[in-house]
Amino acid sequence: MNCELSVGPVWLALLQARLMLLRRHGDLFFASARGQWSCHDVATVPWEQVDQVLLVRDPRAPNASLPRLARGEAFTICTFRNGSPLQVEHPEGRPVDSLMLGSARVYLPVILGGIVAASRGEVFCVAHVTQSLDGRIACSNGQSQWIGNQADLQHSHRMRALVDAVVVGAGTVLADNPRLTVRLVEGALPRRVVLSGGGRVLKDPRALHVLQAPGCDLFVRHGEQLGVVAPQVKVTAVAAGEDGLLLPQSVQTTLAQAGRHSIFLEGGAFVLSSFLQAGVIDLLQVHIANLLLGSGLPSFSLPAVDHVDAGRRFEMEHSTLDGQLLLSCWPRDRDFCG
Ligand SMILES: NC(=O)c1ccc[n+]([C@@H]2O[C@H](COP(=O)([O-])OP(=O)(O)OC[C@H]3O[C@@H](n4cnc5c(N)ncnc54)[C@H](OP(=O)(O)O)[C@@H]3O)[C@@H](O)[C@H]2O)c1
Repeated sequence: MNCELSVGPVWLALLQARLMLLRRHGDLFFASARGQWSCHDVATVPWEQVDQVLLVRDPRAPNASLPRLARGEAFTICTFRNGSPLQVEHPEGRPVDSLMLGSARVYLPVILGGIVAASRGEVFCVAHVTQSLDGRIACSNGQSQWIGNQADLQHSHRMRALVDAVVVGAGTVLADNPRLTVRLVEGALPRRVVLSGGGRVLKDPRALHVLQAPGCDLFVRHGEQLGVVAPQVKVTAVAAGEDGLLLPQSVQTTLAQAGRHSIFLEGGAFVLSSFLQAGVIDLLQVHIANLLLGSGLPSFSLPAVDHVDAGRRFEMEHSTLDGQLLLSCWPRDRDFCG
């Protein structure tokens, strides 16, 4: 699939879909009237006005019988399972428009993965990285804003609005002083979670933005003495490994216990690598910018393999974001909804 991701007429319907699925079980209909998409139950589709319909099966009830459609509009069925790309069928041989399909392929798995995880008391983890053509996510001095383009920033804000929590490592907070908001799109602000075993970000003015805004969680090692912490920061103790790093599985268990079942892991390289190595990433989004950096921080640092057969393979789809590339990569060894 090669599709320029253009989400405008679809975005509010996607937000609506997430809210509906969080509130109740059952299939959903996206309906288009004059190019604008909205989201409905089977009983509320305005059949007289719509010209295209996209039916999204509820993955929590995969064997439910297909709802009967009222008329012969062009319709498409989307099914999500097995930690793989969205399965898209066109029973009449007439697909809905590519703008809707492109958005559905990128964003519906995030919504559907999150609601399945919530029903199981688990976490659906989407990781994202923006890299140069030569696989760097920052210059050697840590500077990284911005490797991608404006469309990449908007995509990241959309991803934040579709999850329960955004997670970053201490290195990213100290290098970028990020706000981690959704200010470029409509949608609700998720919790912001900073991983910092010893809580070093608390004493550093470079962590100002994320720690001063309400709704921030700081995950630290058990037994850390942090002194006075600002009231808007909620400190949570998480199990760590012998190397002192928080264990990715424990991070996820702690998030699930707090009712956060979908997370957007935004970096940096060290955190992404440790979550990849722990096998807890369900979907990896790699944005590739039209830029060479020559040297700098590589996207991932993982243990070496001595034969290509020992590497990890992914199912991949791609979209373009204003001419730059977004890869959606599904680890083949991760059978999430199985
Ligand atoms: N291009 C992009 O998409 C992108 C995105 C984000 C960041 N960046 C860039 O990436 C750089 C920061 O990345 P980074 O790799 O240096 O740091 P990082 O991954 O953001 O943070 C690493 C730190 O997180 C803490 N941590 C806690 N648990 C961990 C775990 N399980 N695994 C790994 N770390 C854990 C540790 O700090 P404690 O010692 O405090 O525990 C560790 O040193 C910056 O230059 C930033 O600009 C680029």
